[in-house]
Amino acid sequence: MSAPVVSIVGAGPGDPGLLTRKALLRLRFADLVLYDALVNPKILRYARKAQRFFVGKRAGRRAMRQETINRLMIDAARRGKRVVRLKGGDPFVLGRGGEEALALRAAGLRFDIVPGVSSATAAAALSGIPVTHRGLASGFVVVAGHAAEAYEPVLWSLAPGALTIVVLMGLRSRRAIAELLLLRGWSPTTPAAVLIGASTAQSARWIGPLRDLGEALIPGSAESPALSEVEGPGTIVIGRVVGLAALLGQQESAAGDGLAHRKAAGRSDAARPKPNGEAREARGGGPTRTKD
Ligand SMILES: C[S@@+](CC[C@H](N)C(=O)[O-])C[C@H]1O[C@@H](n2cnc3c(N)ncnc32)[C@H](O)[C@@H]1O
Repeated sequence: MSAPVVSIVGAGPGDPGLLTRKALLRLRFADLVLYDALVNPKILRYARKAQRFFVGKRAGRRAMRQETINRLMIDAARRGKRVVRLKGGDPFVLGRGGEEALALRAAGLRFDIVPGVSSATAAAALSGIPVTHRGLASGFVVVAGHAAEAYEPVLWSLAPGALTIVVLMGLRSRRAIAELLLLRGWSPTTPAAVLIGASTAQSARWIGPLRDLGEALIPGSAESPALSEVEGPGTIVIGRVVGLAALLGQQESAAGDGLAHRKAAGRSDAARPKPNGEAREARGGGPTRTKD
């Protein structure tokens, strides 16, 4: 089969070490990379010979229209360029990757999908929260928290405590989401977590009971509880599995390039990249600092 001319590639949650080998290959051979706001700029360095074009949403500015992005991909591919459409996390998890793939199909272009590590599970895992755990949760649901019509019907349909809830794009809606779940009958003591910038040097988290989620002050944003998604992306996790964070602890998030570690193997320890510095954490609203 001939090579794809466009690749829709998942960049993972931020740490370049969480890129897949296939993503690296696609970047290495790309002529043009169209990338989103949550893509770590360090990842773009792997696209050595490519022209790089930002098509995401910047604070205070409107996002580029989806039709414009589709047109850019299609026009470049028709001019013979190898195009990488690089998206945060996994392109098919609340990322509009499906719409872009449909546009490429309609244009009759060859394309492939390179899945990425989604923040929906990785943000939790890096804080020691397995989204499923025998005896605590046998499943999880991922919802978009940016608009009530996106999350309300899904959350209301769940029996209280039935599954782990993961909310993306929901920092601004955390109060409304907590109120909805309490009204639905969820226990006010259900553990909840707000995980900011997972796998990056800016990682921070809040862990507390569901009844306090609406008031959760996120470290680094004390003056601005309505933290902007662009300043620091955040994932909310609600369910009994969050209680495991106390036992499993914060994982090393290694915000540096995990690949550089391989290159450094065999050299002195001093030459090896250090694990990520510090993670900021608040429990029950009082910020504390913890070592990763
Ligand atoms: C438009 S959605 C895209 C999700 C992406 N396709 C994925 O699979 O992770 C963007 C949202 O993902 C979440 N997110 C992305 N990167 C994150 C990170 N490093 N830490 C925590 N949440 C993150 C935030 O909720 C953010 O608002």
